[in-house]
Amino acid sequence: MPCFSCELLVNKKHRLGAGFVPHPLCRPSIPFDADPGDPKGLLEIRAARAARDLFSSARAEGLSLVGVSGYRPYARQLYLYQKAADLRYVAPPGASEHQTGLALDVSCPSVSLELIEEFARTPEGLWLASNAHLHGFILRYPKHKEKITGYAWEPWHIRYVSKSLAFYLHLTGLTLEEYHQSTAPSAAP
Ligand code: DAL
Ligand code: ZN
Repeated sequence: MPCFSCELLVNKKHRLGAGFVPHPLCRPSIPFDADPGDPKGLLEIRAARAARDLFSSARAEGLSLVGVSGYRPYARQLYLYQKAADLRYVAPPGASEHQTGLALDVSCPSVSLELIEEFARTPEGLWLASNAHLHGFILRYPKHKEKITGYAWEPWHIRYVSKSLAFYLHLTGLTLEEYHQSTAPSAAP
């Protein structure tokens, strides 16, 4: 059984411990630019199932979404953070949603599977922005919400949160930070 809520908030203020490892992790049935056995080709089981449905829905419309990076252990995030050239795009260790196995970076062949802003203007990127919520994902780091999320616009990073919450966030335009703030119990008088 999954061991945490798919609404879990992970960011620079809400970090995971080094020992946090989601389970079960599995390789989703999607085109993935990851070698067999590479942890980045894994997702937590709820995200893996939702990604399979999302990608198959895209494929039915003639679109070629490709998974680029899924699960990332704490130690791997530490390594990426230490060698990062631009920290607007890289979470400190413990602050990456990739450690939950619920986040997936997605691209397409027309931008050489790169994680770049141009992806947002491809048919795949446009489709993803309009349809990710139908399968329980949100685009986690939107344009103009950088101060709230703590990260630059990443049109390629999707996060599984459940269908009901993804619909809600898509319709309201709220980030996961704003949602959690709005549902937090108010301080005792
Ligand atoms: N690119 C996102 C913020 C991460 O490093 O998890
Ligand atoms: Zn990402």
